[in-house]
Amino acid sequence: MDKTAILQALRAIVGDAHVLTEGDLTAYEQDWRKRERGHALAVVRPATTPEVAAVVKCCAAAGVSIVPQGGNTGMVVGSTPDASGTQVVLSLQRLNRLRVVDGANLTVTVEAGCILQTLQEACEAQGFLFPLSLAAEGSCTIGGNLATNAGGTQVVRYGNTRELCLGLEVVTAQGEIWDGLTGLRKDNTGYDLRHLFIGSEGTLGIITAATMKLYPMPATQLTALAAVPSLDAAVQLLGLAHKHLNAGLTGFEVMGDFALGLVRKHFPQQKVPFGGEAAAAPGRPKQGTAPTGGSEPHAVGSVGAPYCVVLENSDHESEDHARKQFERLLEAALEQGCVLDAVVAENIAQARALWHIRESIPLAQAQEGLNIKHDISIAVSKIPAFVQEADAALQAAFPGVRLVNYGHLGDGNLHYNVQAPADADAEVFLTTQEGPINTLVYALVDQYRGSISAEHGIGSLKRDKLAHHKSPVALAAMRAIKTALDPHNTLNPNRVLPA
Ligand code: FAD
Ligand code: MLT
Ligand code: ZN
Repeated sequence: MDKTAILQALRAIVGDAHVLTEGDLTAYEQDWRKRERGHALAVVRPATTPEVAAVVKCCAAAGVSIVPQGGNTGMVVGSTPDASGTQVVLSLQRLNRLRVVDGANLTVTVEAGCILQTLQEACEAQGFLFPLSLAAEGSCTIGGNLATNAGGTQVVRYGNTRELCLGLEVVTAQGEIWDGLTGLRKDNTGYDLRHLFIGSEGTLGIITAATMKLYPMPATQLTALAAVPSLDAAVQLLGLAHKHLNAGLTGFEVMGDFALGLVRKHFPQQKVPFGGEAAAAPGRPKQGTAPTGGSEPHAVGSVGAPYCVVLENSDHESEDHARKQFERLLEAALEQGCVLDAVVAENIAQARALWHIRESIPLAQAQEGLNIKHDISIAVSKIPAFVQEADAALQAAFPGVRLVNYGHLGDGNLHYNVQAPADADAEVFLTTQEGPINTLVYALVDQYRGSISAEHGIGSLKRDKLAHHKSPVALAAMRAIKTALDPHNTLNPNRVLPA
């Protein structure tokens, strides 16, 4: 089939208005981090599962490969087309209906293109918590979250997207529809296909809908920010938080001082506590104190403690109970010297402001310039030693590099990122140093038996690294699965595994 015939066939399925070939297609063709710009044959926007199936059948018959796309917020260049102009971007954005909330079963069934925040809000309106939460929630989709097995800030309590999913509806590479939307919590009838598609980054099938777990809304969600004297102290604080808050501990995020400094620099309107002053002397936590700021607006790297931690306590009893728990936790932590100072949000607005500081780090880092991301996981107990070793090795080998260290310490996932030296051309630095820096960091990650991709996936950016960091046995099994489910390599070719 020639190009005109393919476009005609696609238009017949989804309508002329939903086959985009002209105008500014940057939003579909460029990745969020601006690492690569591709060129699509067309962007196709089906609105129903049968339309998705028909598009896949049409592309498969024509030998056209498909790049599934949700909100295009992925971090590893997995959702944009290559530069060939021959791939179809299959956007799921119009397939966005909330199908059903089953309160008694504590589940919601939702279509893949539903924006995560829309889903959270719709569930909350019916009195339920859908706990997946990440800074991109205003634009990422539940289908993208499933396809990448996204983590986010609540994993310490609720797990990754995988743990929240009870069933999927998938369009296969052949254009068949698999309806696995059972909502069952127990089902041992052979291989669990759902888990093959979750985290497969659009390479095995197109997720069109999912049945996800819901939780009762807690009575209160209290947030605190603690300044800690070291990463060791942050890990010690995590142990205390588990002990004092138990299942109430729903968030435990760490932020290095340089990462916080970037937020000060690029978002000076945000009030970042503990900044611009000497490390706060140990004392009573400032219970009920609002984020105070007090920093020089452009004082990168000048916060008073090397690390800060955001903690969240979700309580099903009362706010008073949650505050008392926090008080006891922070007092114990001060006594043990693992917290220097702390603020506890007084109200929702203050809690949001504290979370907003944490969630602004990726944006602040993007504004600072192109950068190298390492989304790694290591056993929590070994993280301080890893960071000490990696910091020293990087500074010795690449003097002046700026380390942007933050992440989901509660589940052992660090965003151990590297920014070019302040006086370097970021683009040149990336071209010449990204390879050697990745090699150094990932070799150390291997030594610590960690993972080179904790939550962002592999996409194209990490595809060639995978071969060096995954066992040959695992790689062979992955290849066999890909060949079995997508023998003609129609779905997101050259992502995760080399084509
Ligand atoms: P896309 O970027 O469109 O696609 C991602 C991958 O999934 C691609 O390979 C694509 O082909 C595939 N895909 C998309 N939809 C489907 C579908 N329906 N069926 C099959 N394949 C599909 N990630 C985290 O894990 N944790 C975080 O805390 C986090 N924070 C972020 C903060 C910011 C500011 C940003 C920009 C990103 C963040 N991310 C985070 C990364 C990103 O948001 C997640 O990976 C998210 O799950 C991607 O969803 P999306 O809809 O944008 O998917
Ligand atoms: C985060 O935790 O903020 C995200 O995973 C995004 C990032 O690492 O930049
Ligand atoms: Zn993250």
